[in-house]
Amino acid sequence: MRVLLLGATGNLGSRLIPALLAHRHVVVASVRSREKLRTLILANLLDRITVVEGDALDSATVEDVLQIHDCDAIVNAAGTRIWNGEQILGRIAASVSSAAVRVGRQRGGKPLSAWFIGGMGSLEYPGTGGWHIQDYLPAWMSEHHRQTEAVMRAVPTAVLKWTLLCVALMEPRSKMVELLEQPNRMGHGLSIAARSPPAWQDSWVRTVPVIGVYLNLVPVIRSYTTKLEDVADLIAGNIGHDEGGAFVGELVGMKEIGG
Ligand SMILES: NC(=O)c1ccc[n+]([C@@H]2O[C@H](COP(=O)([O-])OP(=O)(O)OC[C@H]3O[C@@H](n4cnc5c(N)ncnc54)[C@H](OP(=O)(O)O)[C@@H]3O)[C@@H](O)[C@H]2O)c1
Repeated sequence: MRVLLLGATGNLGSRLIPALLAHRHVVVASVRSREKLRTLILANLLDRITVVEGDALDSATVEDVLQIHDCDAIVNAAGTRIWNGEQILGRIAASVSSAAVRVGRQRGGKPLSAWFIGGMGSLEYPGTGGWHIQDYLPAWMSEHHRQTEAVMRAVPTAVLKWTLLCVALMEPRSKMVELLEQPNRMGHGLSIAARSPPAWQDSWVRTVPVIGVYLNLVPVIRSYTTKLEDVADLIAGNIGHDEGGAFVGELVGMKEIGG
């Protein structure tokens, strides 16, 4: 696929460049600073992608890039939590998704595929009768991801084949962003499931009356920590292969197999 990658200078976005290339996608990376990207990734990776400068909040520019480069898929890894100020993740999701919807319409109603990144709190908390993990977390831990979730839930899949990957914590396996010639032969090692986290296992703490259901989340969420490189491989391997619709219009969780 021809993939527009937003947030390519970020922790996840930079790992997505080699992963998307390894899965034989054509990569158009949109960054706020070409110079910053140059300092972060290897020259032989840069040589294999198209780089454009732009702000993900500028929906008209995102639309132009999608059209000019004939992209049929998007990975949005742009934006992060703002510690002292207004959150922007929901606005970025709205800007990018609306641009994609317009492009799909201009192409005669052929929807683009897109993966967005959210937080694990948006997933259902098993055993609570349909409550979500974020309902048991302090507001500051989830408000930014709630915005992204609200934006995506309002987008019909007939106009954008979106998936919201709901992430706990991601950490690097390697500080280097390496060139991959082919997808990881061993696979990304992640199990993936829609709506609630895969392979959920409560800690003994959950049995503590009243507060156990809250305290349980500390060890359990930590057990969903993943490697950035694996998450990048998972997204790169799934984007555009969703014709069966398994994850289209879904909030999706993941866990290291055996983790
Ligand atoms: N890392 C985690 O453990 C974790 C956990 C849960 C969820 N997530 C979510 O996963 C996503 C990626 O996380 P990350 O750790 O890779 O974040 P990150 O390292 O902070 O990267 C954020 C990226 O977004 C770009 N960006 C910010 N505002 C932008 C804008 N207005 N227009 C275009 N680009 C913009 C940044 O560009 P500049 O370089 O120009 O600033 C950077 O490339 C985020 O949505 C984050 O909330 C991450």
